[in-house]
Amino acid sequence: MTDIDPDQIGLAPPSPAQIDTAQMDTAPSEIANQPLEWRDGDMPYSPAFGDHFYCQTDGRLECGHVFLAGNGLPARWRDRNSFRIGELGFGTGLNFAETWRQWKEQRGPGQQLHFTSFELYPMQRDEIDRALSHWPEIDAERQALTAAWPDTPEGIVMLRLDEQTTLSVVCGRALDGVAVADPEFDAWYLDGFAPSKNADMWSEELMRLVCEKTAPGGSFATYAAAGFVRRNLGAVGFIVERRPGFAGKREMLCGVKPS
Ligand SMILES: C[S@@+](CC[C@H](N)C(=O)[O-])C[C@H]1O[C@@H](n2cnc3c(N)ncnc32)[C@H](O)[C@@H]1O
Repeated sequence: MTDIDPDQIGLAPPSPAQIDTAQMDTAPSEIANQPLEWRDGDMPYSPAFGDHFYCQTDGRLECGHVFLAGNGLPARWRDRNSFRIGELGFGTGLNFAETWRQWKEQRGPGQQLHFTSFELYPMQRDEIDRALSHWPEIDAERQALTAAWPDTPEGIVMLRLDEQTTLSVVCGRALDGVAVADPEFDAWYLDGFAPSKNADMWSEELMRLVCEKTAPGGSFATYAAAGFVRRNLGAVGFIVERRPGFAGKREMLCGVKPS
């Protein structure tokens, strides 16, 4: 649920995320704020998962290389009335903020972006603010996101951030949220920590749901290159491609669901 009143920000109500949280299996008590450590002042690190939230070289540029370019964006959202991106793992919202920045630069009149992210441990406003403050390039997006972010994120946090952009963060286990989502996603950002640290976010069961919820011709991209992730994505119906990763990483994966 969001505690944002769209009337307060002068915009029409957002279109529904079309996810019925009542059908989700994640118990509210499982949705918690995970303890964070901060490295170099503004780089969040999860002791529970033993991993950083994005690459230490530059998470914003990594997002452009892996998630946007890996999904053929921004080219693929041109000439589309509406485009739907799904993400496993909202974290700090960096991927959303960078995508929103590029969307605002590239979009045409009337086009709509729906960005839906699935997150078990939604961060607090001040944590998002601290992490995203690292990048002056996304100052405007950070300020708007944190201004709209609820004190207690739970259920579906649905934010109509401008007249052409809707963000929905579905709080709970990704497996539960994706299972009850509509099958309309055009592109996926698979961003659930390293597969060796969090295999649940890369299971064949979850990848199958992701593929089922992808529109024909839709795509995914991820920095992950582990063999079991590649095999799972191929087994569930994606045509998987290996590409050079970001900042010298040998490989990343992207792929399409056949039309
Ligand atoms: C690598 S971080 C995501 C970074 C993020 N996309 C960003 O822009 O900052 C992985 C995220 O997955 C979340 N996560 C881990 N296991 C999960 C699960 N089973 N279901 C949903 N989210 C999960 C973590 O809480 C964390 O926020």
